[in-house]
Amino acid sequence: MQLQDLSSSGDYYITAIKVYRQASGWGRLWKVIDWMNEHLPALVGSLGSSAVVDGGINMLSVGAGCGTIDSKILHHLLDSAHPKLRAVILEPDSHMMQQYQDLVSKESTKLQGVDFDWRQQTFQEFQATAKEDDKFHFISCISSIYYCGDLEKSLKFLYEKLDSGGLLLITTTSADSGFGKLWKYLSVNLAREGEHLMSTDIQEACYKLNIPIAEVQTIKIYCDISSCFNAPPHQLSQDGSILLDFLTHIVNFAQNAPAGFRDDVLRLLGSQECSVRGPEGQVNLDASNSIFLIRRE
Ligand SMILES: C[S@@+](CC[C@H](N)C(=O)[O-])C[C@H]1O[C@@H](n2cnc3c(N)ncnc32)[C@H](O)[C@@H]1O
Repeated sequence: MQLQDLSSSGDYYITAIKVYRQASGWGRLWKVIDWMNEHLPALVGSLGSSAVVDGGINMLSVGAGCGTIDSKILHHLLDSAHPKLRAVILEPDSHMMQQYQDLVSKESTKLQGVDFDWRQQTFQEFQATAKEDDKFHFISCISSIYYCGDLEKSLKFLYEKLDSGGLLLITTTSADSGFGKLWKYLSVNLAREGEHLMSTDIQEACYKLNIPIAEVQTIKIYCDISSCFNAPPHQLSQDGSILLDFLTHIVNFAQNAPAGFRDDVLRLLGSQECSVRGPEGQVNLDASNSIFLIRRE
């Protein structure tokens, strides 16, 4: 089956992220931010002592996107014990990067003390050129580990980039969510092992690499995917069709996937295995995320 992966589709991929955000009612974003607000203060308090001695935190954000989540992380990292912060922001997409920079301009008072090091590049490009002694106290990889290439190589690199006492935070699709079950089905049936990464892949890779996972938590997220079902697959609305592409990570899935396979995927997506029905019959996909906390001793 010759199907194009969404992450290699440039601007179309960014459009698909936006459609997904709308379908989840910005729920994912706010659920992740709520989690940060609840847990980050204690986590920041326990960062390595070197951050305090040097008077500042070194932070790396991988696939930062438009900065909505990052800016909340930065607010938490900046406190009286850490009044200075260097933030290395990796984001290959120029529109996302611009949105992030606009947000920083708007929040300039709150973000005083942050020295931004903007890198419009991929994680792989950063990895190839990073200085060995450039270490970080806090690394975030929020819904972006999927795009970092070889998983074990990426995790090893990120872990080794942590300063002692430093914290790596990774979020991915939970394997036991509806989204996770869909991705499992796709990776088995398309023989694309490793392309649809989820929480079990992170767990297995860390175990293999002897990277200790301090904690895994689940953030419950639902996404309204009714637009993928309110017309026959060939006649979906533009948003329904783009959303289906985001969910499968395959460009123009409704048109390009073989009809039998496409129908099986839609049946699985709409079934109780993956989704729950809302009061008006909406199809709400369980798109929960797992959040991994990895601390360097
Ligand atoms: C699903 S979005 C997550 C954005 C943000 N972290 C958030 O949670 O809102 C994934 C981000 O990873 C970026 N990305 C795609 N390929 C990448 C790569 N090879 N290296 C780093 N980031 C990448 C995308 O441009 C996008 O901004």
